[in-house]
Amino acid sequence: MAQLGYTVDQMISAKSIAARIEALAREIEAAFAGTDKLVVVGLLRGSFVFIADLVREIDLPVEVDFLEASSYGNEMESSREVRILKDLRGEIQGRDVLVVEDIVDTGHTLTHVVGLLNQRKPNRLKTIALLNKKIRREVDIEADWIGFEIPDEFVVGYGIDYAQRNRNLPFIGKVRMG
Ligand code: IMP
Ligand code: MG
Repeated sequence: MAQLGYTVDQMISAKSIAARIEALAREIEAAFAGTDKLVVVGLLRGSFVFIADLVREIDLPVEVDFLEASSYGNEMESSREVRILKDLRGEIQGRDVLVVEDIVDTGHTLTHVVGLLNQRKPNRLKTIALLNKKIRREVDIEADWIGFEIPDEFVVGYGIDYAQRNRNLPFIGKVRMG
């Protein structure tokens, strides 16, 4: 991919991701045992691969919905202002909700989304992020479940993009410039 001006080095294999998702699914099943129907909310677009694999591992009745918040655009820097570009289709009042995020970086996106959804009075609202860049945090928030802690590297693959590219890589890779 020399024409793109960067290289992608594998950081987390597809096999490791699958194994981690199995373990997370068992914890989620335990936490939501007895729920009527769990609403699994994917944050577009980066979580689309993760949510697809995750819901297929969760042995509970689930409903899937999506929400899109504004993100980086084509830049590597996060914006502190978060806008909702696409809202949920369904009501979540009184429901058990699991918000699925690809990466928690500065924390602004998840904070904004959790605040918005809590205003709708869900019965329970939990969050899961595939990746966590704790060192980058600007607001005090942690997802209830995390797939992997990663260092301050820009990553792609498994649904996650750099300028809309590389979402189709089956693994998580780090971007190396040049
Ligand atoms: P936050 O609001 O700074 O926590 O940003 C979270 C969002 O930024 C994630 O949902 C991603 O879409 C995006 N993001 C953060 N780090 C990366 C990265 O390394 N690669 C691609 N997107 C990222
Ligand atoms: Mg995102």
